[in-house]
Amino acid sequence: MKVFTTRVIPEEGLLLLQRAGVTVKQWTERKELTLEDMIEQCKDQDALFYAGGRHIDRPFMEHARHLKVISLLSVGYDNVDLKAATELGIQITNTPGVLSNATADTAFLLMQAVARKAFYQHKRILNGDWGFSTPTANLGIDIEGKTLGIWGLGNIGTVMAKRCKAAFDMKILYCNRHRNKAAEKELGATFVSFDELLAQSDVLSVHTSLTPETKDKFNLEAFRKMKPTAIFINAARGGIHNETDLLFALQDGLIWGAGLDVTNPEPMQPDNPLLNMPTVAILPHIGSATVETRNAMSRIAAENVLAALEGRPVPNPVNHLYSL
Ligand code: DGY
Repeated sequence: MKVFTTRVIPEEGLLLLQRAGVTVKQWTERKELTLEDMIEQCKDQDALFYAGGRHIDRPFMEHARHLKVISLLSVGYDNVDLKAATELGIQITNTPGVLSNATADTAFLLMQAVARKAFYQHKRILNGDWGFSTPTANLGIDIEGKTLGIWGLGNIGTVMAKRCKAAFDMKILYCNRHRNKAAEKELGATFVSFDELLAQSDVLSVHTSLTPETKDKFNLEAFRKMKPTAIFINAARGGIHNETDLLFALQDGLIWGAGLDVTNPEPMQPDNPLLNMPTVAILPHIGSATVETRNAMSRIAAENVLAALEGRPVPNPVNHLYSL
């Protein structure tokens, strides 16, 4: 059996496949695969282990019907045209659960980095601009006791809420499609409307997936409804906020700061003005990037591949979610 991986993958998943007798062909080049590359690389393979790269679209999948599975090394599946995959009979799988802590930790890190202008202060030192300090210089804001608003209180959002409650005794608000009674009980979280979430949050952290409904949800209209002292955090998907509107909101003082692990587009260009704003902290989509988490993700993705190759039900199918 043969599997193509779009990147060099973490060792645990690789070893699991190899020990099961699978021949793994990894894309080792540091350039993006084109549509033609993908078709060529996958034409004699049994499965695709997708660890990043170009959108898995219908034109590719029309040439990939022979694949027993496209196994994603991610919990998000917005990089795949699920409708086309399902219509063409291609199984898609993901890696849920194991990256909740690492991703929530990234949101937590960004919240503090924004509140204390940490990335900006670091750049000042590098630029030889530590200079002459005064008691009114370099001021950030406190987080202790403030209100955290979670948009999307699922696995990752719940970990973020737990961290914020334990560390800073934050009051938790959330807005979801459905009530999360467990979190209400455990964290004293309060279910609110989207507008209430915008109006009441001191820190508003996004933990939902990118769908047609969530795309550009954080636009000028939304930022106008937030507190001028609010911090906006997005460690989910860059498409959920409108980056032009976010820049305007920050420049115009509609909100205080922003922490992004995800941008739109990715990679973000180095001349993006957001990168030089004092109350902005940006990371290059590293939410799940810890040794432990990436190994766990690669193991789950490999288990999905093996199940498909052996004709067993895959543990983490996502095709059925396309109509949601
Ligand atoms: C995910 O799993 O969706 C993450 O964003 C990948 O890093």
